[in-house]
Amino acid sequence: MVMKPKNVMIVEVGPRDGLQNEPNLIKTEVKEQFIKKLWASGIQEMELTSFVSPKWVPQMADSKEIVEKNSTNSGRKIVLVPNLKGVQLADDANATELAFFIGVSDTFNKKNINRSTNEALMELLPLIKQLKEQKKWLRICISTAFYCPYEGKIDPNNVLSLCQKFIQYGVDDISVADTIGMANPQEVAFLFSLLKEAFPSTTFSAHFHDTRGMALSNIYTALQAGITRFDCSAGGLGGCPFAKGATGNVATEDALTLFESLGIETGIDINKLFQAIDLLAPHLSSPILSKNYLLYSRQKSTV
Ligand code: HMG
Ligand code: MG
Repeated sequence: MVMKPKNVMIVEVGPRDGLQNEPNLIKTEVKEQFIKKLWASGIQEMELTSFVSPKWVPQMADSKEIVEKNSTNSGRKIVLVPNLKGVQLADDANATELAFFIGVSDTFNKKNINRSTNEALMELLPLIKQLKEQKKWLRICISTAFYCPYEGKIDPNNVLSLCQKFIQYGVDDISVADTIGMANPQEVAFLFSLLKEAFPSTTFSAHFHDTRGMALSNIYTALQAGITRFDCSAGGLGGCPFAKGATGNVATEDALTLFESLGIETGIDINKLFQAIDLLAPHLSSPILSKNYLLYSRQKSTV
């Protein structure tokens, strides 16, 4: 049976995942204009920024200003936090929707957050319990859910048991990530089916990096496993600075084209999305290479 939901939710991660790996420091005003145009295109949920150490990720040093500038927008404004300090800083900026992140792989966690998986869990779980008691909307991003750049293939049962630790506190969304874009559709089908069967009432999102051009096939496969939330990045920007070999996320415009061709609604206007990318592109260190942005640029230059 072919699964074809009427609509899906795109969680735009361009301002956070898209920019965190960008070597040019983008001016805060440019980020704000980019975000404004993304909202105007019809995006309803967005990872705006992250409250991480500016020594580790200098591009995210303006997180407070970014959150404050977006305070009146009615969309879901998600910010990444790695620890208690991140939660406090997010709170000072009046951020209401938080995303924690942790990898399944111990080596990745040491490189990304300077903590082992167990050390990170000891800090995060009590915090998550407390925040859920305060009715905060919480997302957990599970990195290296398929492959780790340091440890190789990940056992799906380890993903399952890590998810379980957060599900017990009633987190609102679990974003399952192919951090380095190594997963194939068979592995995607297996993991998402396993998770959906084990936790039928949990909301899962799929987060695919497109290192080997497999992200759209993986999105289609996740859709068949019943996933209807997809993290995407305008222009296909992105990558984790601490995951060797990680490149951009699946481009929002490519995912939109796929959904549109299948007759699945996203509520996003692709032409307005292109305007957001047009605004950002001149500030980036390398050109945008997503298939649909290139097509749009070619058509624009021949008009
Ligand atoms: P650390 O150096 O171990 O931190 O970093 P610490 O606890 O030892 O503290 C050292 C200093 O950092 C102290 O300041 C703290 O106050 C400060 P000092 O006393 O030296 O002046 N500090 C902070 N400052 C700002 N914000 C904070 C914070 N915490 C401590 N939250 C830390 C630990 C986690 C902070 C660091 O490793 C870090 O910032 N890592 C960044 C990781 C990151 O941003 N990775 C990319 C996002 S995850 C991702 O992309 C994957 C995802 O897309 C899914 C996928 O694709 O897999 C989500
Ligand atoms: Mg990512």
